Amino acid sequence: MAGRLAGRCGLITGAGSGIGQATALVMAREGAKVTVADVNEAGGAETVEQIRAAGGEARFVACDVTDAEACEALVAATVAAYGRLDWAFNNAGIAGPAAATGEYSIKSWHRVMDINLNGVWYGMRAQLQQMVKQGGGGAIVSTASIAGLVGIRGGPAYIAAKHAVVGLTKSAALEYAKQNIRVNAVCPGYTRTPIMDPALAKRPDLIDRFGDRTPMGRVGQPREIGEAVAWLCSDDAGFVTGIALPVDGGVVAA
Ligand code: NAI
Repeated sequence: MAGRLAGRCGLITGAGSGIGQATALVMAREGAKVTVADVNEAGGAETVEQIRAAGGEARFVACDVTDAEACEALVAATVAAYGRLDWAFNNAGIAGPAAATGEYSIKSWHRVMDINLNGVWYGMRAQLQQMVKQGGGGAIVSTASIAGLVGIRGGPAYIAAKHAVVGLTKSAALEYAKQNIRVNAVCPGYTRTPIMDPALAKRPDLIDRFGDRTPMGRVGQPREIGEAVAWLCSDDAGFVTGIALPVDGGVVAA
């Protein structure tokens, strides 16, 4: 397909749902070849089906991002299928339970850190190795959050992991700038995806509260995050590296 990313090969983790799925569709619309990765095989298959139905190129690879070897195998599978790795979107994540810092369980802390931070680093590590080896630069985007930019009550592991993703992004951007490998983060605000389902099942009014907390007066749609990721991965953002871009309807400007 023609587009800003025509023929550019890459991968997305957490692409079986929400922001990852919507971003996969945007990347494919822009002409990219997409490896759709997730632990959710049914969701991943659905993403691939939607991309193919729209005339795009995609394939599914099962990957648990807490497994460093699986993250390496994901890169290898993308290169085997498409020839190289031009871009990657490290997006898989979980919310974790809601509890104040003093009440938070150690088990939950490690689980959230393992997926939301270690998983991003395992991915980035394998992707950087491949991009350096093949030469010619590349673009890596990871999903942080507004929770990577400001404190929020009631989710200490999530907030700490997302802040760490921003720090990791900035450091890697400096390290690989000379090789023209751009490393950025996207920081979504409140976005309507299945990650919110457990909280909304208990408190359906939360969706309005999230909208009210957003200066633009509404929650975001997953596609709106995907458009920002596509831009960051494209040559249009060729001089952009080391940023943590809020896509949040104005939340962190307040
Ligand atoms: P989602 O729940 O719709 O999608 C997350 C995907 O990650 C799911 O398909 C899930 O199966 C996958 N996943 C979970 N653990 C995994 C693992 N160990 N290995 C591989 N895949 C795994 O949620 P959403 O909202 O699309 O979340 C995507 C990212 O956006 C997450 O990093 C989340 O923290 C972040 N985010 C979401 C916001 C929102 O309001 N929805 C706001 C800010 C950030």
